[in-house]
Amino acid sequence: MLSEKSRPVIEQTIGVIAERIPAITPEFYKSMFNARPDLLDGMFSRSNQKNGTQPQALAGSIAAFASHLLNNPDSYPDEVLSRVAHKHASLGLLPEEYPTVHEHLFGAIAADLGDAATPEVVAAWDEVYWLMADALIKLEKGLYGQQANDVMFAPFTLISKEDIAEGVVAFEFEPADDTPLTHSIPGQYVTIQVKVKDGIRQPRQFTLVPSQEGHRRVVIRKDPQGEVTPILHEDINEGDVLEISNPYGDVVLDEGHGSLVLASAGIGTTPIVAFLDRLAKEGSQRKVTVLHADHSKDRWPGRQIMERLVDSLPNATMITWMETPGDGDYEGFMNVSEVDLDVDQDTTAFMCGPLPFMKGLRSQLIEKGVPGRNIHYEIFGPDQWMLHDEARKA
Ligand code: FAD
Ligand code: HEM
Repeated sequence: MLSEKSRPVIEQTIGVIAERIPAITPEFYKSMFNARPDLLDGMFSRSNQKNGTQPQALAGSIAAFASHLLNNPDSYPDEVLSRVAHKHASLGLLPEEYPTVHEHLFGAIAADLGDAATPEVVAAWDEVYWLMADALIKLEKGLYGQQANDVMFAPFTLISKEDIAEGVVAFEFEPADDTPLTHSIPGQYVTIQVKVKDGIRQPRQFTLVPSQEGHRRVVIRKDPQGEVTPILHEDINEGDVLEISNPYGDVVLDEGHGSLVLASAGIGTTPIVAFLDRLAKEGSQRKVTVLHADHSKDRWPGRQIMERLVDSLPNATMITWMETPGDGDYEGFMNVSEVDLDVDQDTTAFMCGPLPFMKGLRSQLIEKGVPGRNIHYEIFGPDQWMLHDEARKA
């Protein structure tokens, strides 16, 4: 809980800090990577730095955390903390690194605020930082404790590589040593480290899809502008060994009996396939509506497996939207307003795809009567949404 001494200081300064974050973050990262270039080797994504998504997410989350503490003094924003802790754990982040971020973030804040960074202001924000850091460190320790091994990454051999849609390849790995394998929950992801052109390691997350017992399987869309996926598609071959983390991620199916809406666009099918496979294995009787949007049938990753799984579930149906005329049930972008969705207060929805797709769909689902709190999503990059959209708490 925030101390009585810091509370009024945070109340007075949260506006200015939130407003200055876009200016503070580039300086924070510049100074941190100057002092610790090794953090760009295996820990931070260079591309997320360049495209600006990660810097805003990290610093922005501290302001969002402070705002939560002001409005709800007796609780923490559990959803935000859990997502970040899972991501951190998938990268093997250790508590020793928290003073590094503190030093460089606070150096940048002091430089930006100048005289306004009085000792009281710095002390109050210091308190917020360490409350958040301590909460994350505790969650991350708990996550590491749940693993079947005590390593952050283990070697895996690529045993098969299969084209499954236009620009999309499925990679199946088996352990290359005897590190015990943690059982994954459908919907979870792993971090894969890849050595890039200049020799440094770049980590990326990929959702686990159903595989043979004891294997890890991922389905990867090539981003032609990306740093890692072109290497995976073109230069990594059967027999090659890559370092892969334990499974993490908290976007997993609930244990309830209510109906489900599982919606994806493009490569966002990967968690949906994992969910459908779990439901099929459990012999689920739940009512499931699968929604998918894509450019065309040929670009739809996992089309065959989704069709098969939907067929095997007694109460599942699928509706598709394809930009290519004649390829889907509907033409163009997904619009659930045009279909008859049988949903109620117990319906849970999961979605995965580009942010504009998920924002639009969320509003449409709420319009149809799905409670906002039951709508969950996975985002394939640093989450800019959770932190800024209070509407999600509807
Ligand atoms: P990156 O190098 O990360 O580049 C991404 C984008 O950044 C580029 O398109 C470009 O627009 C921009 N960029 C790069 N460099 C610059 C620059 N210099 N200036 C400006 N912009 C730049 N992907 C899958 O295919 N399958 C999955 O199952 C999957 N699951 C995921 C699960 C989670 C939880 C997360 C977080 C991500 C998942 N992803 C998945 C996405 C994946 O991790 C990668 O982000 C994605 O594949 C792109 O990787 P890349 O290295 O090729 O591209
Ligand atoms: C990711 C917050 C400390 C390394 C993130 C994200 C947030 C965040 C919000 C984005 C999560 C997502 O949606 O994917 C914080 C906060 C910290 C903290 C509030 C301190 C209180 C650290 C430290 C390190 C670190 C100490 C390592 C030095 C990373 C990395 C990522 C990340 C590597 C993923 C980056 C990427 O994919 O580009 N953090 N973090 N974080 N964090 Fe932290």
